[in-house]
Amino acid sequence: MDQHNHPNPVSVIKAENGIAVIQIDNPPVNALSHAVRLGLKQAIEQVEVDESIKGAVLHCLGRTFIAGADIKELGKPPKQPYLPDVIAYLDACSKPLVSALHGTALGGGFEVAMGCHYRVALPQARVGLPEVKLGIIPGAGGTQRLPRLIGQEKAADIITSCRQVKMTEALEIGLIDALIDENDLLEGAKSFLIKQFGTGEAPVSISKRPIMETNEESYASLKAKVTKRTRGQISPIKALESIDNAATLSFEEGMAAERAIFLELASSDQAAALRHAFFGERTIAKVPGLENIDPRSVTDVAVIGAGNMGSGIAAAFADAGYSVTVVEMSEAGLEQGKGRVAGIYQGGVKRGKLTQEQAERKIASFSFTTQLADLSRSDLVIEAVFEDMQVKKDLFTNLQSVVGPDCILATNTSYLDINEIASVLEKPENVVGLHFFSPANIMKLLEIVDAEKTAPEVLATALAVGKKLRKIAVIAGVCDGFIGNRIWARNRQLLEFFLEDGAEVEDIDKAMLEFGFPMGPYSVFDLSGLDIAWAQRKRKKTSMKPAERYVEIPDLLCEQGRLGIKAGKGWYDYEDGSRKPQPSSEVAKLVASERVRKGISQRKLSSEEIQKRVLAGMINEGCKILQEKIALRPVDIDMVLLNGYGYPVWRGGPMFAADQLGLADIVRTLKEMEAEYGEGWEVSPVLAACIERGMKLAEWQCTE
Ligand code: 3HC
Repeated sequence: MDQHNHPNPVSVIKAENGIAVIQIDNPPVNALSHAVRLGLKQAIEQVEVDESIKGAVLHCLGRTFIAGADIKELGKPPKQPYLPDVIAYLDACSKPLVSALHGTALGGGFEVAMGCHYRVALPQARVGLPEVKLGIIPGAGGTQRLPRLIGQEKAADIITSCRQVKMTEALEIGLIDALIDENDLLEGAKSFLIKQFGTGEAPVSISKRPIMETNEESYASLKAKVTKRTRGQISPIKALESIDNAATLSFEEGMAAERAIFLELASSDQAAALRHAFFGERTIAKVPGLENIDPRSVTDVAVIGAGNMGSGIAAAFADAGYSVTVVEMSEAGLEQGKGRVAGIYQGGVKRGKLTQEQAERKIASFSFTTQLADLSRSDLVIEAVFEDMQVKKDLFTNLQSVVGPDCILATNTSYLDINEIASVLEKPENVVGLHFFSPANIMKLLEIVDAEKTAPEVLATALAVGKKLRKIAVIAGVCDGFIGNRIWARNRQLLEFFLEDGAEVEDIDKAMLEFGFPMGPYSVFDLSGLDIAWAQRKRKKTSMKPAERYVEIPDLLCEQGRLGIKAGKGWYDYEDGSRKPQPSSEVAKLVASERVRKGISQRKLSSEEIQKRVLAGMINEGCKILQEKIALRPVDIDMVLLNGYGYPVWRGGPMFAADQLGLADIVRTLKEMEAEYGEGWEVSPVLAACIERGMKLAEWQCTE
């Protein structure tokens, strides 16, 4: 139903036995818009004054209970009635109220539920307070009522993890009062209320209850863990502060303090960035031109090549419910592949995510073969074989005579030209890139590469598959590195310039850690091994323009066998099998001698300068990607960096940051960089065009 069919999205329906139903109908997710808050306030007033009503059930139509405040309204000046006040009406209602939960009762939605005297739910429902993920804290009593309901430690866990709690746990810890097993939630909730009437006990609202006891020691340790894990992000720490208030302040004082923090954070840069990430994840799925195209049906998937990447891809598909066949060309390769797939699930058992029996069932669900002929029924085949053009062309040529005419042939290549791979086929329109990130069953990002001849239907199918895999699927065009690796390669080059110009490895890592990346880039290079990039560098060097600056240091490191952690040495030293990086005097010496050889006079770079240039470099490459129509929109680029490259989500992504910081400032930094670094570092004309037209980069359309 359309939203404008609901002038008042809240209605009060009188039922039998003196029970009224307060019904909310605000599709798609019953968010607490201004109209809903107003309607809810009026509904409670009606329940209060109508003497024929003895109690009420709060129930939502559609796919879910209230999914929270309306995120579109956050960051704008709030309009009365404010949510905490509406919930205060529920809380103070003299007649018992029960909220009937289905779908997801999240954020303000669960705060409304906690404003009621009781909560009942369908077994599949989930509840949670994910506000921290949006850069705010629960702002309608969540941090004050939840500790009263379940104690500070459990409240802090739920609020800072943003997790959705399943009903078995919710019942066990007291988040809900009863599960409704019948199909009819509303009838079940009414029966629950009638039973409560029978007990003769007056309901006690949560605000009047004392705070539940908590284990001080484990609460302190949880707080320490959260502080470490969420480094750089403000909202989790502020949420903890507000939860602490629940124990030291009165309910009213705690609510006032919570509100003050909420309002301050709602208009913060971090909250704006996190809202951008929330809506960005949803925007990327909406691809102009594909809205009305039906995807092909995909059930049988084959993965060719069972190395680390291939087995991860296979597991990702199996976990999403596809029927998966794994192909290796030799029996020995197949045995190793079986071992890798089994290893993924046995790892799950070790981490307590799966039982042994579940793991065995999973492993048994895969088919393994060495024969391409076994793929005749496949709907989608993904190759994850050796990164070599001829190998891939031969494989696809052989495949086309085996599979059906509608089978999609996907390549997981990171760098090769997919147009060239597709060129050997009779049906190049069936070829698409599916670029997974390792470990493919865990990493959220999937780049869907739209080759020159890829059919829209194939692209729509890839998007539907990405959604089923629960990936953040971003469409990219064909170029060296697509969106993510292309920006990253440019960034890597910049990090090498910093080194050669005078910064030390540790200084650069420290600057990037401070920026919010989970690890310093040089530590990451050591972790992944320097030899893969070495091969790419050699390939790239051949196509570089003569004037382009090239830093030899990484190659020299590889020549000395400093290949990263696996070799016990890379950019750092790793003593006695330890994975802890220690600054290396050998590397420092090598870097110093390269500076001398090239006649570079060393200059110190501050963390701030490193961060500023890294960001500007990413924005510039992102703009070049937009201009070449490799990405559809700036937001697509942000989603790639947030979900595949550890860019701190609370910064929203480089393209978002460009608008936040101001394009003129970015251009100034880029001009300095262009003057210093020369060829390849020209400022993208997209930035100048935006400045000239007075528009934000976010408004850039790739149709321009
Ligand atoms: N406000 C506004 N729009 C919302 C919304 C919200 N709280 N939640 C979802 N939507 C929109 C989405 O943007 C999407 O719109 P679109 O179709 O135009 O793209 C549509 O509703 C459907 O959402 P999904 O595609 O995400 O649908 P799913 O079924 O996959 O997921 C969901 C449903 C689990 C409810 C998911 O949407 C979700 O997690 N929503 C956000 C929940 C949340 O963070 N709530 C807290 C809000 S802050 C708050 O409550 C502050 C309070 O403490 C004062």
